[in-house]
Amino acid sequence: MTNNIVFSGIQPTGDMHIGNYFGAVVNYVRLQNTGVYRTIYCVVDLHAMTVPYEPAVLRRNTEQMFIDLLACGLDPEKSIVFVQSMVPEHAELAWIFGCVCSYGDLTRQAQFKEKSEQLQGKQDAFISAGLFTYPVLQAADILLYRAAHVPVGQDQKQHLELSRTIANRFNTQFGEYFPEPEMLATETPKILALNEPTKKMSKSLGPKSYVGLFEDEQTVRSKVRAAVTDAGEAGTPLGEGARNLIGLLRACGKHDQADAFEREYAAGNRRYAPLKDAVADALIELTSGLRARREAIGADRARIRHLMQEGAEKARAIARATMKDVRALTGLPEHAQ
Ligand code: TRP
Repeated sequence: MTNNIVFSGIQPTGDMHIGNYFGAVVNYVRLQNTGVYRTIYCVVDLHAMTVPYEPAVLRRNTEQMFIDLLACGLDPEKSIVFVQSMVPEHAELAWIFGCVCSYGDLTRQAQFKEKSEQLQGKQDAFISAGLFTYPVLQAADILLYRAAHVPVGQDQKQHLELSRTIANRFNTQFGEYFPEPEMLATETPKILALNEPTKKMSKSLGPKSYVGLFEDEQTVRSKVRAAVTDAGEAGTPLGEGARNLIGLLRACGKHDQADAFEREYAAGNRRYAPLKDAVADALIELTSGLRARREAIGADRARIRHLMQEGAEKARAIARATMKDVRALTGLPEHAQ
């Protein structure tokens, strides 16, 4: 492998939920621990500014997400873990990329259409230009480190295509420099919303849609119990909701239990209460361990701030070198940094 650089970004959306965990973070940790890749992970606070937000909440969520990534197993000795806005080169490269990305390419982005429509429905609807150029900043995130591998879910496919388009156009215009980043497809399951199991688990679908990684036991249990399943008639195929719950059991490593439920359901016994209990137990087992780690790590704020600073410095060393080259290629003057 000539280019072994892995980059991914995660939004500081407040408490992480099991969808983010199984869908993304477990995989970040796995890639970190293979020893094959140079892994770089970023809390993308600048992306979180593209929709209306509270400054104090953003600051708190950014620090919390950094702590939570460590609690989930990212290791600052093995990966570069940092906060996007602490490396100002992200915004700088995003400007340059905005000039090699066409307006037409951005208007075709499905996520912009979706999010701007969601916002339009709200009072005082405000659709920022930042929401429109969001994927340009994402391309800058990845290419600042000249990363070739990007572990993300299917929903990011179009953004990644745009990153390739941007890399390509830059290279054509200014000379071969950036790799074309590829999605690193994962075997991680797509976790669906508990209340609407046709959609991906997401905070935007309301608190009943997700189980927070750090929620207390009772909340976890009651959310899982309330999960939408199907009428459970023998002979009908299992609904998405039931399959999602079985998938969650597997994600928690409880394959024997998942197999047993599948056998039972195939034989026509379609009671979902025991499945829900098993899922709740497995999630509580997982989350109580993570909660303890989060508390231990989060207790030492001075160390957290130090790690944030250190992560940013490591990232910046790479980012500065890239920007030096980019400035030379694009006709900007050199400047002392
Ligand atoms: N857009 C991504 C998401 O919503 C987050 C993100 C920002 C990202 N920059 C990135 C992911 C760079 C991968 C690489 O999930």
